[in-house]
Amino acid sequence: MKGKFISLEGGEGSGKTTAIQFIRQWLESHRIPYILTREPGGTPLAEEIRELILTSREEPVNDVAELLLVFAARAQHLAEKIQPALDQGTWVISDRFLDSSYVYQGKARGGNVQMLDLLASWVVGENKPDATLVLDVPVELGQERVVQRQQQDRLDKESAVFHQKVRDGFLERAMAEPDRVKVIDASLSLDAVQKQIEDQLMQLNTAWSGDV
Ligand SMILES: Nc1ncnc2c1ncn2[C@@H]1O[C@H](COP(=O)(O)OP(=O)(O)OP(=O)(O)O)[C@@H](O)[C@H]1O
Ligand SMILES: [Mg+2]
Repeated sequence: MKGKFISLEGGEGSGKTTAIQFIRQWLESHRIPYILTREPGGTPLAEEIRELILTSREEPVNDVAELLLVFAARAQHLAEKIQPALDQGTWVISDRFLDSSYVYQGKARGGNVQMLDLLASWVVGENKPDATLVLDVPVELGQERVVQRQQQDRLDKESAVFHQKVRDGFLERAMAEPDRVKVIDASLSLDAVQKQIEDQLMQLNTAWSGDV
């Protein structure tokens, strides 16, 4: 029985890391084996690529170069970490995955969607997450939540217009693939957010047990 693959998506400060801590507790209370991972990154090589992508630098970063770096990291992550875990029956919880590429490199940076589709089918193919939870918050609220953090990376410094495109981009992903991509209203209290997430986890777990 394969494990379930869940990705968490949403803009900066939307509550992905907080949600993952809740999911971790839920999986432990249900005695479901799991690993937590993130993108870009997840393996030593992929984490090195992450550093390259997120480091602030004077040299302009070419859009195609950034896109290929993200997919290079993803290929490594899928082959060396995600697929082996799922094959063992371990659930995989990833802080960001494929949809972030469509949103950041595609929608927000105006990248070539055909190229994205090509890379997605080549690198990810059928290995998309079983469920993708989009944590949706108004841009200003996400920004307020991020301000508490000390360090900002290259993407945090983008304009409000950029962050609005990011929000819209994730909502479009949910409209395009409603069976896989679920929108969580993350502007609500922690309790209310966690209730929505738990509903999704229970649906997945039922599907999981039903596979036996
Ligand atoms: N539902 C909520 N209500 C109030 N505050 C929240 C809620 N969810 C998260 N927060 C707070 O908002 C801040 C950002 O949350 P978190 O780090 O989980 O977001 P993130 O999506 O992982 O951000 P990043 O993209 O920067 O990694 C944290 O201080 C967290 O405690
Ligand atoms: Mg986070």
